[in-house]
Amino acid sequence: MCGIFGLITNKKELPIAKLIREGLERLEYRGYDSAGIAIVNKGKIELRKNAGRIADINKEGWFDAMEGDFGMGHTRWATHGPPNAQNSHPHLDGADKIAVVHNGILENFMELREELITRGHSFKSDTDTEVFPVLIKEFLDSGMALKEAVVATINKCKGAYGIVVCHADTPDTMIVARKESPLTIGITPGETTYCASDIPAFLPLTRMAYILDDDEIAVLNPGKVAIFDVIKGNKIEREPITVEWSIDAAAKVLDGKEYKWFMHKELHEVPRKVREQVNVPQENIDDFVKTILDAEHVYITAAGTAFYACLAGKFQMTRFGGPFMTPIECSEFKDHLPKMPKNSCVITVSQSGETADTIEAVRYAREKFGAKICSVVNVVGSSLTRYSDHVLITTAGPEIAVASQKAYCTQVTALSVVALRIAEIQGKMSQEEIDKYREALIATADVGDVILKREDAIKAVAQIISKKINFFFLGRGLSMAAAYEGALKLKEISYNHAEAYPAGESKHGPIALINEGYPVVFVAPPDETYDRLIGNIMEMKSRGATIISVVADFDERVTEISDYTLRVPIENNKYAIAMSIVPFTFPLQIMAYFASDHNGLDPDKPRNLAKSVTVK
Ligand code: M6R
Repeated sequence: MCGIFGLITNKKELPIAKLIREGLERLEYRGYDSAGIAIVNKGKIELRKNAGRIADINKEGWFDAMEGDFGMGHTRWATHGPPNAQNSHPHLDGADKIAVVHNGILENFMELREELITRGHSFKSDTDTEVFPVLIKEFLDSGMALKEAVVATINKCKGAYGIVVCHADTPDTMIVARKESPLTIGITPGETTYCASDIPAFLPLTRMAYILDDDEIAVLNPGKVAIFDVIKGNKIEREPITVEWSIDAAAKVLDGKEYKWFMHKELHEVPRKVREQVNVPQENIDDFVKTILDAEHVYITAAGTAFYACLAGKFQMTRFGGPFMTPIECSEFKDHLPKMPKNSCVITVSQSGETADTIEAVRYAREKFGAKICSVVNVVGSSLTRYSDHVLITTAGPEIAVASQKAYCTQVTALSVVALRIAEIQGKMSQEEIDKYREALIATADVGDVILKREDAIKAVAQIISKKINFFFLGRGLSMAAAYEGALKLKEISYNHAEAYPAGESKHGPIALINEGYPVVFVAPPDETYDRLIGNIMEMKSRGATIISVVADFDERVTEISDYTLRVPIENNKYAIAMSIVPFTFPLQIMAYFASDHNGLDPDKPRNLAKSVTVK
């Protein structure tokens, strides 16, 4: 939920502070309440931190002017204590010799803090993090070396952490450790070592990386990494991985064109990412599918946008012969299922693979009830991939905008591929039919291209509706996945209040809110729900609602009764219609983007949000 970046090098000419600041900026999507940097300079720690975004704090080059040998930085999404300078990371021990940055939440910090206060220590912040440097100091004072002191400290801590530690008197050494919060290490052998909350943060600097596992600690020296198992104490031999991702992800440029926002650039990546998703050879898709088919009970879970991708995926998998599946938001999973039946399978979806609620649901199902876990994940090597029996990797690549869009589109596409494989394995549909559905799925990427070519038409609608305060997003069946996603996008980046409802359900209460000009967005594909949806549109229209509909290009009836339409250029056949959930969602994501931009907001970093929610 916060971003961590550290750097240690023997190339003394490197602008250390600037590189740390730039690394933090690449992680700002993880939190942007405050930021800070600590640098070890000739046996002293120089610390600068403040509330606000990095660019504002560094306006006069405040961070870049810092000098020293090595250091670390942090960009915060506040959990314990308001976002002010004091609560910003890094935090120091009482003697200003040890600096720590932390991502995660310590569950027993109150207890530890009280213990430390009774032993004469004092604290400057409200954070849980500050107990780390203070505890480390105690262990160092008792005669331990730095690594042993960090191990002793984390052994006392309950909860989640990714931490970086440095000591003013321990030159050229940083310690990192993790439990349930991500931490990756980058290396230019013999020269420089980086640590960061995710790989894209150091991608412009190196492609060679190590991913730290839970209960591991690493000692970082310039261009050198040594990893240890915290529980067993032994050294772990691990080969670095080479990261293939493009570093373009870190810039707002696509095909030579500079975009104002990452969100807009990433929307323009959607068609190619969907195309890659359909064509990517997923080696273990059959094991993934068989695990679903062999289970007696199947659950599907995720958070936010990923949960809406689950709703679409569930519909498609069941439609193509898969079992009935129970969808549960992962934050509700444990509370909804105090017991799980034997032989259960949990399908889960996540962009980051680090969402704490998702990890909790998966670990609960797996460790307590022996459920099999099938995950659809974007970030290779993320925590979720480690808790899963089978993983399908999505092809979205790094997604910088906090609000998810290409991740949703590739997740739904990946689950549609699974659905078609289910049909093949079940053998109840002819191969010719399945191939036609697959061709239609591939064609959704071309539909996306055309939608983008005509995005000005969506922009015009977005500008008209952007000042409205309240919205309904209504659909039926599969379209509900688009209605939920459209409403979430509009509220999270444009701050319009938007509620998604099953269209038929809207007359059981919500319709009371409708008055003249109230905007109601209908997702209206020409599928089996179409005629009944028209009835729901008429109910709203006759009460004065302004009707905005997402319709097929060839649509006439809904178009006639709508005030505005967002048009989807799908072919008029049952295959294209059945596979059109991404094309019918995409215009709503684009509309939300343009509404946000028109309202003068920052669609990349919406207030109070962070890309990866690593707290429960
Ligand atoms: O990384 P994940 O896919 O697990 O994240 C899940 C949600 O937190 C995420 O989709 C969130 O709802 C975004 N703000 C949606 O735009």
